Amino acid sequence: MRPELNPYSPGSGLNPPHLVGRQAEIDAFDLVVARTRAGHHNRGMILHGLRGVGKTVLLNQFREQAERAEWFIIELEGRPTETGQEAVRQRLARLMMLAGRRFLRGKHATGKVKQALGTIKSFSLSLGVASVELGLDANPGRADSGQIEIDFEELVEDLAPALREASSAFALFIDEMQDLDSELVVALLAAQHRAGQKNWPFYIFGAGLPSLPSVLSEARSYAERLFNYRNIGALERPAAADALTVPATRQGARYEDEAINVIVDAARGYPYFLQTYGQSAWGIAEGRVITADDAREAIIEGNAELDMGFFPARWDRATPAERNYLRAMARDGEDGSRTSELAERLKVKPASLSPARQNLISKGIIFMPERGRVAFTVPNMAAFIQRQFAD
Ligand SMILES: Nc1ncnc2c1ncn2[C@@H]1O[C@H](COP(=O)(O)OP(=O)(O)OP(=O)(O)O)[C@@H](O)[C@H]1O
Ligand SMILES: [Mg+2]
Repeated sequence: MRPELNPYSPGSGLNPPHLVGRQAEIDAFDLVVARTRAGHHNRGMILHGLRGVGKTVLLNQFREQAERAEWFIIELEGRPTETGQEAVRQRLARLMMLAGRRFLRGKHATGKVKQALGTIKSFSLSLGVASVELGLDANPGRADSGQIEIDFEELVEDLAPALREASSAFALFIDEMQDLDSELVVALLAAQHRAGQKNWPFYIFGAGLPSLPSVLSEARSYAERLFNYRNIGALERPAAADALTVPATRQGARYEDEAINVIVDAARGYPYFLQTYGQSAWGIAEGRVITADDAREAIIEGNAELDMGFFPARWDRATPAERNYLRAMARDGEDGSRTSELAERLKVKPASLSPARQNLISKGIIFMPERGRVAFTVPNMAAFIQRQFAD
C-alpha cells in the first residue's frame, strides 16, 4: 500500500498511531491530577519494564496530561556515564529556569510563585547555570548550599506550596531513571518523601528498566512506599490486535483474521515488534487487505530490520568479553540464567565474571531479576544472539 500513508511507528519513544492497553495507567495519572486539583496528595508513579514495551511513550502521555493541567513540568533523562550525569544536573537547573520563565508570564504568577522563582534562580546559579535570565532576584541562602539533597528539598519547599495555591503542581518526568547518579536519586526521593508528609504537590514520574524499583529502594528503603509502581509489559492479545488494526482501519485498509494472528504471535505482544511488523506488512500488501501471506513475509522483513537496528543498538555496545557472557546467557533463552551456571559454562570462577556482568547491567543490556540470576532487558535478545553465531 502507499508508503506515505503507512501509519506504523517503530522507534524509540515514537508515539504510536494508536496507543493501546495502558488505560489503567492513564486513569491512574488522571486521578493524580484530579486529586491534586482537590488539594490531596498522591504518590508519584514508576513505570518499569523491558526495552521497547512503551514506557517512554506512556511517560510522554502523562506529560501531555500534566501540560493540560498547567503544571510546572521538568523532563529529564538519566545517563549512565559520569559526564552524562553531570549534564543531567545542568539540564535540571536550566529547565527549572526556563519553566520558571514560562510561569512568570502565565496566569499562575502569584506573589508566592514569584518569590519561589527566586529560589529557582539561586538553585540554578549554585549549579553553575546562569545562561537563562528570569528578571528576578535570587533568594540568597535558599537552595544554594551546593549540596543537592538540601538544595533540591528547599526548592520543592518554596515552589510546591506556592503552586498549590495556584491549583498547580510541580512534576518531574524522568526517563531511563535507573541511570541517574545515586546522589541525585537520594535528593529526589528525600524531596518526594517530605512532599508527602507536608502535602505539597510535588511528584516524580519515572520510567526505566526492570531494575529501577530496586535501584530506588537501595537508595532509600522508604522508596517502596513513595510510588505507585507499574510493571509495563507485553500487550494482551486483543490490545495487540487493536494496535495493528485500528490504524489500518483509519486509512481504509484491513487485515485478514489469520494475518492478525500471525503478527500478534510473532510479536508476542511487544509494542516495538508490532509496529515493526505492521510497517512491513503495510509495505508488502498489494491491495487494501493485508493477507496472511503478506503477514508471514512481513515477519521475515521485519526481523531483518530488527536485526539491523533494535538488537545491534545493544549488542554493538558490548566488548568481546561481554559478548561472550551474553552468548553464554543466550543458551538459556528468554527466561534468564543462573550466574553460577554461566561460570561453569564458560569454565571460569564466578568472581571473574562480575566485571562483565556489572558493565552489561550499567549499559542496560541485562538486569538481575533476583540474586544469582541475570536476564536480558531486551525481549527476544537470546534468539538474536543465537542467530549471530548460527552457520
Ligand atoms: N501502548 C502502545 N500501543 C501501541 N504501540 C506502542 C505502545 N507503546 C509503545 N508503542 C510503540 O512501541 C515502540 C517502543 O516504545 P517506547 O520507546 O516508548 O518503549 P520503551 O519501553 O521506552 O523502550 P526503551 O526501554 O528501549 O526505552 C514505539 O515504536 C511505540 O510507537
Ligand atoms: Mg524508553
